[in-house]
Amino acid sequence: MKAAAFSVFGGPEVMRLMEVPDPHAGPGQVRVRVKAAGVQHYDCAIRGGWTPSYGVKVELPQIPGNEFAGIIDEIGDGVTGFELGSEVLGFALLNCYAEYVVVGADQIVEKPAGMTWEEAGGLTGNGQGAYMALEAIGVGPGDTVLINGAAGSLGSIAVQLAKAWGAETVIGTGSERNHDFIRSLGAIPVTYEEGLAERLRKLAPEGIDCTFDTAGGEGLDAAVALVPDKMRVCTFFAYDRIEELGLRIVRGDRSAARLAKLVELHAEGKLHLHIRQTFTLEQAGDAHRAIESRHGRGKIVLRVD
Ligand SMILES: NC(=O)c1ccc[n+]([C@@H]2O[C@H](COP(=O)([O-])OP(=O)(O)OC[C@H]3O[C@@H](n4cnc5c(N)ncnc54)[C@H](OP(=O)(O)O)[C@@H]3O)[C@@H](O)[C@H]2O)c1
Repeated sequence: MKAAAFSVFGGPEVMRLMEVPDPHAGPGQVRVRVKAAGVQHYDCAIRGGWTPSYGVKVELPQIPGNEFAGIIDEIGDGVTGFELGSEVLGFALLNCYAEYVVVGADQIVEKPAGMTWEEAGGLTGNGQGAYMALEAIGVGPGDTVLINGAAGSLGSIAVQLAKAWGAETVIGTGSERNHDFIRSLGAIPVTYEEGLAERLRKLAPEGIDCTFDTAGGEGLDAAVALVPDKMRVCTFFAYDRIEELGLRIVRGDRSAARLAKLVELHAEGKLHLHIRQTFTLEQAGDAHRAIESRHGRGKIVLRVD
């Protein structure tokens, strides 16, 4: 099969289109003919030589990619609930930038007809991340929530989840060119340059109850200054500052049950994945360059067919 992979660690230029052996489904597994695969900062970090401390063994040549959508074309022994030809979306650790991916049947859910391949391929990583973060900070009815980096892949989902979970006011930081987009998600946009804490005090005179930070900088500092309960501030960006700021690490395993809830919200019209840009497998290096700019609206996805 064809896959986008790297044989040496380095910058986006090490990504190559390669011919690699086809994987096959073992017991409890399915093989999925991939239609779309999401691109995450995690993939770039792996490509650059970072090794996560949990559950992942990077072997060269390595195919990155932790999320996908496609059509089941092989089913291993003992799998129930799916058929050949089922359209699904799911998650994996590595190996998704490819024509085929093999995963456990507990790592996929059915793709609804109304969800595009790009949305399905890009939902399962950031969607679950945003869900875990908002759950950890206890977003609920009546809350005033700050999402730092509200236009990005994680942030744009987080804004919509916060609204869906009943938050009264959601404020989202972003550069001016993304303000209409942030507004369209249901948040009040605010720029993230110096003086943010003061602007937030004016926008939310009653205070900010909780914050999900996806971008660090002024937004994280303002959150720490303004949110009274530090257990209600979560950063997925400034891991090196968690201890110093008195925050806690939020981590969890992705699950099909959580993914099913995201799909349900999509079906109810409460969650939409804005696609920033699509690339082919051959252009995976360009896709990495695009996400590594750390600016933009929504999600970058590889189209595989
Ligand atoms: N499951 C997960 O998805 C997960 C898990 C753990 C950690 N993370 C980490 O979370 C971070 C965000 O990921 P992502 O995929 O959402 O990134 P992304 O799609 O690249 O989005 C980044 C967003 O940050 C905004 N931004 C840039 N500089 C900013 C600043 N100084 N203050 C506030 N906003 C700023 C940009 O907005 P403008 O374009 O308006 O500048 C852009 O919309 C990454 O560092 C990633 O490694 C993600």
